[in-house]
Amino acid sequence: MKIAVIGTGYVGMVTGATLSEIGQEVVCVDIDERKVEKMKQGISPIYEPGLTEMMKKNLEAGRLSFTTSHREALRQVDAVYIAVGTPENADGSANLSYVEQACKDIARNITRDTIIVTKSTVPVGSNYKIRDTILMHLLHDLQIEIVSNPEFLREGSAIYDSFHADRIIIGTDSEKAAAVMENLNAPFNVPIFRTDIKSAEMIKYASNAFLSTKISFINEISNICELLGADVENVAKGMGMDKRIGPQFLKAGIGYGGSCFPKDTKALIQIAGNLDYEFQLLKGVVNVNIKQQSLLIEKLKRCIPDVAGKKIAVLGLAFKPETDDMRESASIIVTEELIKQGARVMGFDPVAMENARSVLHPDVEYAESAAEAIQESDAVLILTEWQEIKKLSPTDFKSMTRPLVIDGRNCYSLQDMKAHDIEYHSVGRPPVNERVTTVLT
Ligand code: UGA
Repeated sequence: MKIAVIGTGYVGMVTGATLSEIGQEVVCVDIDERKVEKMKQGISPIYEPGLTEMMKKNLEAGRLSFTTSHREALRQVDAVYIAVGTPENADGSANLSYVEQACKDIARNITRDTIIVTKSTVPVGSNYKIRDTILMHLLHDLQIEIVSNPEFLREGSAIYDSFHADRIIIGTDSEKAAAVMENLNAPFNVPIFRTDIKSAEMIKYASNAFLSTKISFINEISNICELLGADVENVAKGMGMDKRIGPQFLKAGIGYGGSCFPKDTKALIQIAGNLDYEFQLLKGVVNVNIKQQSLLIEKLKRCIPDVAGKKIAVLGLAFKPETDDMRESASIIVTEELIKQGARVMGFDPVAMENARSVLHPDVEYAESAAEAIQESDAVLILTEWQEIKKLSPTDFKSMTRPLVIDGRNCYSLQDMKAHDIEYHSVGRPPVNERVTTVLT
């Protein structure tokens, strides 16, 4: 098949690369000339393990190409994947302007009967609007069939996930489109669930909302564990052994970030609200997450009431490991607050520092390594559980004036930190070597 992918963000890039990997002829189109130039040379605009290798291989094999021209990309294609962004509007709803533009571009440039596959996360019912917008602007007398095909890939393991996913959702009213999509996706060897369009669209939101709920739930449990002196790691383990609950997404921390959970939870609240339905549970999930992102600042203030002039190392800036994505990362809130309070902030991330420079407060300084950031700092805050950060040993913190580690991802064992006399505060676990801070009045 000849396939066009509109949008080369995380979703579009991975979709394009993996479809070419299973033997399809794929052209990815994006309006950003600089980005397209890079991609033509096999340089991925995002950090995603395995993506560059897959891009290069399929570029060389002639199955994958990139262009800024919609005319060139959409001529004579059998299917078009819409993978443009749906950012958040001020009221939390999804902004569909890029999707609308993609529809117009499709309508003006396709020359064959085409299957339109929506990968972008869009509010329930949007695929019908997509069909209507395309039909309204079509230049030729062509048939189009619409398919909702939400993606469930995780950043950082998107290539692996494509071939090991739990399911592929195909939402369509068209038997013909369903058959083509089932055939097309067969080489991924992933169970396919076929359903109607609105249910497919809802599956995406409901899945992300449910996973976010699990995270906020365990984060609330962790806060209660701290008050009780219990250990959330043990609690999560014991809970997760119940197959009805499952062990995944029960990692307590400083809340969820990224381009999906924060945006999709708010959008689903808005979708329900538009129908006069108050999604109370999900509102709670969002509020818990907002509170949780400031947890490390509260813990730090309990140890160092006045951080003005103190050197604070912030290890891990991306919203999670194995990505350079800074969107909705807790590091934004944490570093902003520290700078506001007059601290000297030294950030480090193994991969996301370039992106961090354009997102974080300009006063944030950057270290070449975790060791450099830690050295002579008054406190170390751990925000992302990169392997490189997890493998630091307690002795690595000995270069601090008075070792104080506040860990938002529970990277280290309480016993190790205790044995090395490091003051250590983590999430939902008892503090270790806690010093009593006396505030002089
Ligand atoms: C998420 C979903 O997992 C994907 O299925 C979905 O396709 C994607 O959103 C999307 O909608 O496009 P992603 O945003 O890449 O994927 O990240 P996750 O691995 O799900 O992590 C999200 C956030 O939750 C991170 O900040 C992570 O640190 C946090 N998290 C995750 C926890 O705090 N605890 C956990 O137990 C799991």
